[in-house]
Amino acid sequence: ATTRYEAETAPAVCDGAIESNHAGYSGSGFCNSSNAVGASSQFTVNAASAGTATLAIRYAHGGTDTRSADILVNGTAVEAASAFSATGAWTTWSTKTLTVPVNAGSNTIRLNASTAAGLANIDYVELSDGTPPQQGDG
Ligand code: GCU
Ligand code: CA
Repeated sequence: ATTRYEAETAPAVCDGAIESNHAGYSGSGFCNSSNAVGASSQFTVNAASAGTATLAIRYAHGGTDTRSADILVNGTAVEAASAFSATGAWTTWSTKTLTVPVNAGSNTIRLNASTAAGLANIDYVELSDGTPPQQGDG
């Protein structure tokens, strides 16, 4: 199943501000992180079973620099300084997808900015854990 976790919805934590001034986001806003190395956007996601899952990260980056970030799962970096490239406008949202190791049950996903510019604006993450859809899933 694929589940979406919005950056603005607890238990997600935005080290910065939840904003809604650039259209095209899902839910009620996005995380505009602090402009600092290590600025973060964190999510708590659920996996049906231990193994690998597909993680999609939706973001927008209207600047011209590359907003790299370490991507951590349960505190361990699965990608270091992963590139979040410019999307052309703050209202143009893109999705970055990677395969991550997960535990059964709760997992934390954290993006830690690699540069002083902070993160790209982060809309949500989606975790696809490979289990078939269950009755009651959207
Ligand atoms: C602008 C934009 C923000 C963005 C910021 C940045 O201020 O409105 O949404 O986060 O640039 O460069 O990080
Ligand atoms: Ca920002």
